[in-house]
Amino acid sequence: MTGYHNLVIEPLSSTHSRPNFQCGVESLDNYLKKQAKQDVKRRISRVFIATTPESPSTVAGYYTLSTLSIELNQLPAEVARKLPRHPIPAALIGRLAVSEQAQGFGVGKMLLMDAIKRTLGISDEIAIYAMVVDAIDERAEHFYQQFGFSSLSSENRRLFLPLKSF
Ligand SMILES: CC(C)(COP(=O)(O)OP(=O)(O)OC[C@H]1O[C@@H](n2cnc3c(N)ncnc32)[C@H](O)[C@@H]1OP(=O)(O)O)[C@@H](O)C(=O)NCCC(=O)NCCS
Repeated sequence: MTGYHNLVIEPLSSTHSRPNFQCGVESLDNYLKKQAKQDVKRRISRVFIATTPESPSTVAGYYTLSTLSIELNQLPAEVARKLPRHPIPAALIGRLAVSEQAQGFGVGKMLLMDAIKRTLGISDEIAIYAMVVDAIDERAEHFYQQFGFSSLSSENRRLFLPLKSF
């Protein structure tokens, strides 16, 4: 039995086997296979991979991290009211996925916690107001809501969580 309690989460490297990754959402599989390496090389995104010590090349899950600025009018009015009239700096988890074999064992939750921890770590040096995620569908939206994320707007599935909550 493979355990996911001692997950290793590290930057994408050539030791990770990308072709076999399957999470149930084709666009997320394809991103890892075809785009992730390029994005890292061009400094468009950072990609973090979860593996286990027993199977260090098998990708149990991944997420991407980059920055974005949120226009004030995209934030809920009660949040925007307390902020200066400028775009607000944020960190974006653009994609997050767990392989079908590894789903339901807490890997998604650990990836999300890792992304928040890394962001908090750098936010002492580069100001970041909130964590933002783009949920791929309604189920994914529920996944993030249970960790305290709330919707940015009704038009898309973008959610946010102010870092001051930590
Ligand atoms: C959604 C996804 C990331 C969840 O990862 P996971 O490792 O299976 O989830 P975890 O085991 O960490 O579950 C953490 C919590 O989320 C809940 N959860 C898991 N999948 C969920 C889903 N699809 N919708 C709502 N809640 C979900 C679990 O019940 C668990 O709650 P608990 O701690 O109270 O028991 C994963 O199923 C996945 O990759 N799905 C396909 C791609 C996708 O939808 N990505 C979404 C981001 S764009």
